[in-house]
Amino acid sequence: MSLFSFLKPTAKKATIMPAGISFEVKPGQSVLEAGLSHGYAMPHSCTVGTCGSCKCRVDEGKIRELTNFAYVLEADELQSNMVLTCQTALKSDAVFHIPNFELKQLHPPEDFEGKIVATEDLTHDTKKVVIELDRPIWFDAGQYVQIYSDEVYGGRSYSFALPPAEDGVRNIELFIRKVPGGEFTSALFDQKLAGSAVKVHGPSGNFWLREGRGPIICVGGGSGLAPIISLLEQAVKKPLGRPCVMFFGARSQADLYCLERIEAISKAWDGAFQFIPVLSDEPADSDWNGLRGFVNTAIASEAGQYISSDTQVYLCGPPPMIDAVSETVSELGILENNIHADKFLDASHGLSRAE
Ligand code: FES
Repeated sequence: MSLFSFLKPTAKKATIMPAGISFEVKPGQSVLEAGLSHGYAMPHSCTVGTCGSCKCRVDEGKIRELTNFAYVLEADELQSNMVLTCQTALKSDAVFHIPNFELKQLHPPEDFEGKIVATEDLTHDTKKVVIELDRPIWFDAGQYVQIYSDEVYGGRSYSFALPPAEDGVRNIELFIRKVPGGEFTSALFDQKLAGSAVKVHGPSGNFWLREGRGPIICVGGGSGLAPIISLLEQAVKKPLGRPCVMFFGARSQADLYCLERIEAISKAWDGAFQFIPVLSDEPADSDWNGLRGFVNTAIASEAGQYISSDTQVYLCGPPPMIDAVSETVSELGILENNIHADKFLDASHGLSRAE
């Protein structure tokens, strides 16, 4: 055996406690990447070391920081051996502590070739975009994909806006909102990407409907409606018998969309289903008879009958909305473990999320 074979990096083992699962981490892989490639539901969101969703404690072993954790973790967290699994490589076998790790098997992310085959205006600044893939993709309702185009730098992440299918999905649908000055969305809205090839990576994300028997509160803001629609259309296929209220936070009536699909969900829902749109910037003299203001205020006043010890909350939208709603539902007594959020992040967070 040559000297160089001793120097060659070898795979190491990551163990997640208290779940008690182990998997191999190859040289060059992060612990998160390795866990996801084995189909484990590792907590994560941005995957690029900026959101903190993947933070956990390392209890044994030697690790290597791929980027400096101090950008995201507080000094006391660093002292308590907290790490970001998306930015952690292994120098030895290691043991991580992730208290609420969910033993759910996910579809491992893969790379696909895609082509933008159709777009449809949903509102003045939001489009439904259909991408045909080279083969079917399997995913969980609520997950997202990353889209890469030769026309623009970097990747963009968008949630599936349709439910999964048993035989996989070849034509995926995404809701894409135009961001002023946004490179990717400007090209898309200028029709420069029609018919063009894109690379698609996914599925990703751990936003999915959890098992349970309690009420469901869903909140979508802007193009954050996509994963909520996906979750609810999937739930209609396999009736749950759980009451559900869906809040849709938008600026004005012109920003409401998917109302026919929501009505179809409402009609097909097994049990009570309530839809509550809330407008924050609707002209005072308009014909709008619904709620006005911010969605968190509406939840505080309207969601009372859906609050119980086993209520689950699903939130998708921009960070200020997620933060405000999370605070409100916590004050209403919803347990932290039952609040599931899918935050959009802007380009400063690496892969931009749905914007
Ligand atoms: Fe690791 Fe966002 S997933 S910091």
